[in-house]
Amino acid sequence: MTARLQALLADAGLDRTLAGSLIMDGVPLDTIAAAAGTPTYVYRAAGIRDRYRALDRALEPIPHTLCYAVKANSTLAVLRLLADLGAGADIVSGGELERALAAGFAPERIVFSGVGKRPAELRAAVAAGLGQINVESMEELERLVAMAGSLDRPARIGLRVNPDVTTDTHPYISTGQHGIKFGVPADQVEDAARLVAATAGLRLTGLAVHLGSQLLSTAPYRAGLDRLLALLPAVQAAAGGSLESLGLGGGLGIRYTGEESVVSPEAFAAAILPGVRASGLHLHLEPGRCLVGSSGVLLCEVLYRKHAGGRDFVIVDAGMNDLVRPSHYGAYHEIVPLGSASPEVQRVDVVGPICETGDFLALDRDLPAVAAGDRLAILGAGAYGMAMSSQYNSRPRPAEVLVDGRRWGICRPRETTADLFRGEIATPFDGAPA
Ligand code: LLP
Repeated sequence: MTARLQALLADAGLDRTLAGSLIMDGVPLDTIAAAAGTPTYVYRAAGIRDRYRALDRALEPIPHTLCYAVKANSTLAVLRLLADLGAGADIVSGGELERALAAGFAPERIVFSGVGKRPAELRAAVAAGLGQINVESMEELERLVAMAGSLDRPARIGLRVNPDVTTDTHPYISTGQHGIKFGVPADQVEDAARLVAATAGLRLTGLAVHLGSQLLSTAPYRAGLDRLLALLPAVQAAAGGSLESLGLGGGLGIRYTGEESVVSPEAFAAAILPGVRASGLHLHLEPGRCLVGSSGVLLCEVLYRKHAGGRDFVIVDAGMNDLVRPSHYGAYHEIVPLGSASPEVQRVDVVGPICETGDFLALDRDLPAVAAGDRLAILGAGAYGMAMSSQYNSRPRPAEVLVDGRRWGICRPRETTADLFRGEIATPFDGAPA
């Protein structure tokens, strides 16, 4: 086995038995696939716990809160696991708020980000007593100011600053540079702080950035932090010294190809601790992918082989509706057989059943030879997998399974075809005159 593959299997907490069967904490993935069917997402609780604890430990020298970015994987069982560890949550919608509360996150440890929060969502957030609402524009702030008199309780406001920091990641998920939709431009931050301070019912508690996702270096964090520290004196003055926290967003990357060198919790902490400590403020982080990404796999089954136009296709029962990252970002996800790998390697395209040429899970991939009926695991699927899935082509969404030690259980049953059109009204004008 290559070192690359070994690293990826280690990240995922996967091993092979002597007979070649892929196991997660002793549980054969084939057993899960046989019982739960395919496609099925499988998450490893121990891996998620380890990642959370490692980051928490590295940041121990300073007061901090890890607000798990719910968008990465919003499955209730995953949320519950993180809430039980003491995590806070970073949410971006009323739906995520409901999920986070249902999973047991303490409201005061929830931060609400997002450029387009609706008035009803803002109201619900204040009513629930959230820890902070991160405002992303002057107009959003003005809306809160207009609401302030009628809010049930004071609202704790954060300003998400656009720090104009560029990152070396996919352009779709680089979110801290000038000219994109996120964050309050730095030159408006002081005015925004003054407006919050002048409004009864609002209190400015935080200053935050989010730089991008799948970041593989500490440089953007240092640049983002420097930006916040430069703004801090003026903002504190404008807000009457009410600031309590600095937020550095999420973004820490994981290994997908096995060749990336990722930022360790220790290296991350070393890069940001001096600056945060100097500020005297509490640190908020919003890690998503790095807590759950490597601890999830998507199991699927080979339906057919096909040779056409000089290409070799492996057609599987998972598609872009189940895992969109390869199609949407050209993302690489390692694919390994659940059973013993054939010594014969073939260069193939692994494609799904969806009626789009862009429906692929891997292109030009060297895989051990597989045949119809063989099962595969797609690695690195714990973050932005199920959370971005859809029912496109009227495909019920996959089942989800949580492995915890030697136990495993279905935490979300596979959708049924009845789920696909539940609540639809085929004849909305029945009985009404035309
Ligand atoms: N905080 C904010 C304000 C965010 O917008 C995000 C992610 C996070 C935290 C968490 O970032 P993470 O630690 O997971 O990198 N669907 C894409 C990723 C989109 C990330 C969006 N924002 C993907 O599959 O790569």
